[in-house]
Parts: sequence; C-alpha cells; structure tokens
Amino acid sequence: MLRIGLSENGSYSRALFGESFHRLLSTHTGRKLQDKVALITGAASGIGKATATKFINNGARVIIADIQQKLGQETANKLGPNASFITCDVTKESDISNAVDFAISEHKQLDIMFNNAGIACRTPPSIVDLDMTVFDKVMKINVGGLVAGIKHAARVMIPHGTGSILCTASITGVMGGMSQHTYSISKCAVIGTVKSMASELCRHGIRVNCISPFAIPTTFVMEEMSLLYPNVDAQRHMKIVHNAGVLKGANCEPNDIANAALFLVSDDAKYVSGHNLVVDGGFTSFKNLDFPAPDQVQ
Ligand SMILES: NC(=O)c1ccc[n+]([C@@H]2O[C@H](COP(=O)([O-])OP(=O)(O)OC[C@H]3O[C@@H](n4cnc5c(N)ncnc54)[C@H](O)[C@@H]3O)[C@@H](O)[C@H]2O)c1
Repeated sequence: MLRIGLSENGSYSRALFGESFHRLLSTHTGRKLQDKVALITGAASGIGKATATKFINNGARVIIADIQQKLGQETANKLGPNASFITCDVTKESDISNAVDFAISEHKQLDIMFNNAGIACRTPPSIVDLDMTVFDKVMKINVGGLVAGIKHAARVMIPHGTGSILCTASITGVMGGMSQHTYSISKCAVIGTVKSMASELCRHGIRVNCISPFAIPTTFVMEEMSLLYPNVDAQRHMKIVHNAGVLKGANCEPNDIANAALFLVSDDAKYVSGHNLVVDGGFTSFKNLDFPAPDQVQ
C-alpha cells in the first residue's frame, strides 16, 4: 500500500511528497530537465553541442558558452529559442563569472553547470621533451577553466541549497598510456577535482560528477588524426578512431556522452555524487593476456 504523508513531521512529509511528485511528473512527461537552466562550456561543437541538444529536448534552457563566437552563435540559433550563446574563454575567470551571472540575469537561476571545454595537447611523446609552456596552457584550460567553472557555479547554487555540476574527464585520466602526458595529467586532475569538490558541496545539496568518454571523432580528435596521418582522408581517420574500441557493433558517439550527462544531471541520479561515469564500452575494465592458443604451443 502506498502511504504518503504519515510522518510525524507534517512539513517534512509535505516536502517529501512535493519532491517525489515533481520527480514522478518529470519521469512521466519524459522531459527530465523541465524548467531547468543549464550552462555548458565548449558547447559550440562536439560533446557539448550534443548535450545541449539533449538537455533542450528534455525541457531545459541552455546557455552555450564557448570561445568560438561565430560557431557558438550558429549552434544556439540552430537549437532554437531555448538556447542562447555567450562568448567565454574558460581561461579567463571573469568570462566564466560573466557567463554564470548571465544565466542568473536571463533566467533567474542556474541548476546545471557542465564544465566541458577542453583541448588536446601537441607535445612530443617523451616526458624528457615536455614543453612546460604547452603544459601550463593545457592545464589552464582543461583544469583551471573547470575549477573556475565549479567555483562560480557554486557561488550561485549554494544559496539555493541545490544544483548539479558535471565535468568532462576522459579515459586517458583513468589509465596511463593512452595520450600524451599533459592531456592525461589534465584529465586525471579533472577526476580528482570532482571528488574534492563533491566533499564540500554535498553539504549544500550540490552534486558534482564527471564523465570519461572513449575516443570520439569530434573536431579536436579529427585535427589530431590529420596531424598524425596526413595522407589519408577524414573517413579513414574516423575509422581508425572507431576501430580502437572493443565493444563489437557500436561506436562511441557524442550522443552517448549526452545520454550519460542527462542521467547524471537529472533526478535519476539524485543520490550520485563524486562519481566518474566511464563511457568506453568496457575498454578500461580489462586487459587480455593474449596467451597463444593451446594448438600453437608444442
Ligand atoms: N572527443 C574525444 O575523443 C574526447 C574523449 C574524452 C574526453 N573529451 C573531452 O570532451 C570535451 C569536449 O571535446 P569534444 O570532443 O566535444 O571536442 P570539440 O573540439 O568538438 O569541442 C571542444 C569545444 O571546446 C571549445 N573550447 C576550446 N577552448 C576553449 C576555451 N578556452 N574556452 C571556451 N571554450 C573552449 C571549442 O571551441 C569547442 O567548441 C573536452 O574536454 C575533451 O577533452 C573528448
């Protein structure tokens, strides 16, 4: 039997009922982010754009914050009236602060902050040859920009006692050896940042999580591929990226990350915080010993 509101504390049971009812409603309407406001950095293209699309389709209003002004505006126009664009270079704390303030002035609230902007690094493979200037630049975007994003989101979320903060990490932050050191270090730091921030922000009802995607042929990966394999076309580059996966019959796509993002920021994940959701088809879960087959051993 369903018993609602039998708690001795009347206000508690009313609050509980109200909250449960809202969750039930959003699940039934299929619009998991109805009336929510989300700010997504690096949303002019790739994973950020796919996630902005998914969030809007689920009832959210989305602010696209990106360093690419023309592309960012075009993306917002394509996504319709529930999308807006603000120029934002995540290496400038004032830009991030402005983007958060823009969310508040336009929509009076910020429910979701997705720190997604990131760059690859072009350094030689050996630590001996590491250019520390490049190291600092990558860390400033992939880690500094993300920490500043959490700082300013927390500034406006703490007074409301609720909010969801999401970050894009990578499988290269889960295991070593899959990218150049600098990128890998930056993504390890993202996973660590999420755990550290979750420890404080849980006391304010704010959840902090990250997603670690497998390789996806988005703009920055395709640029890397054309540097690595200058003599073949984009189709071939894409195939090389997809063939690196281990899950038969599926490729990792921006929409897979958008689905994971929707889960983590919605009430479906209302008790998930400090988590790194790895979306890699199992790639980082195992290694094969590759012993020879019995009939090959005499
Ligand atoms: N594609 C992959 O294989 C993959 C895998 C794991 C993690 N990631 C991460 O996913 C995130 C999104 O990348 P993507 O694959 O969608 O690539 P993408 O190149 O399509 O998107 C990156 C976006 O970030 C923006 N950006 C770059 N520097 C910025 C800055 N200083 N300020 C604001 N915006 C900036 C770019 O303009 C671009 O729109 C990155 O953090 C990346 O490290 C990607």
